[in-house]
Amino acid sequence: MISKHHAEHLFEGAIAEEYEILKRICPAAADLSRRVGLCVGDWTPPYPLEQLHLLEIGCGTGITTACLLASREDVLIESVDNAPAMLSQARQNLAAALAAKRLRLIENDALSHLREMPDASVDIVASAYAVHNFLHGYRRRVLEEVLRVLKPGGLFVNGDRYAVDDAAEHLKNTQEEVKAYFRVFTEMNRIDLLEQWIVHLFSDESEEHIMRLRPALDAMTEIGFQNVSLHYRDGVNALISATKSSLIAAAP
Ligand SMILES: C[S@@+](CC[C@H](N)C(=O)[O-])C[C@H]1O[C@@H](n2cnc3c(N)ncnc32)[C@H](O)[C@@H]1O
Repeated sequence: MISKHHAEHLFEGAIAEEYEILKRICPAAADLSRRVGLCVGDWTPPYPLEQLHLLEIGCGTGITTACLLASREDVLIESVDNAPAMLSQARQNLAAALAAKRLRLIENDALSHLREMPDASVDIVASAYAVHNFLHGYRRRVLEEVLRVLKPGGLFVNGDRYAVDDAAEHLKNTQEEVKAYFRVFTEMNRIDLLEQWIVHLFSDESEEHIMRLRPALDAMTEIGFQNVSLHYRDGVNALISATKSSLIAAAP
């Protein structure tokens, strides 16, 4: 039986080593990473701030991290990921930010790392295409921890795969996605990778993982987030944000 609360390792082998192929098979993903960065850039903190502390969940090879770094000069980022094969690419892709000490990469699972963090210690938690990979129970615990570590008034922003609530429409979107995989991987003559991405898609779509938009937003409100909002949607790719109430007192 699958425990709903553990961290999985879904990014190993070819899918991880050649992850940046995503830019070709899903250009909408790169666009959503850019939007996550813009959302961070547009954020006005409801308190005085000299340096913005941001935690990124699941940085992968650094596609979204680069957008976050570009979003504002005052940002200091800690990015956590549990896949060594993804992190080694991030180290190369983000070498300048690492050298400038604007970025720290941490190899750990998201929940374990969050649990080690003090209450009210970051201004923003940002993520792209990581949270949908989590098992439902694990995802809920991560979101509870995100709320705990945010400063009162802090922001959570996530660009991710949120399944369309209408099951028939979601099926159609998924079928179009599969067709696009076949088209691109055939053009590239990479049937080996096609297999990996299809297998991964089955994981995303499984009952243990699938993140449907409405229940996901409702769960965030239930956990205690405020201003839970959908900003943008293109098929399954959606940008959401939420805040922590500024009335919640910081831990002594
Ligand atoms: C689809 S990739 C997205 C990478 C990156 N955010 C981007 O926008 O390209 C998901 C990333 O989340 C990481 N991940 C998945 N589950 C995780 C967990 N429980 N803890 C930490 N990282 C996790 C994976 O290793 C992978 O690098």
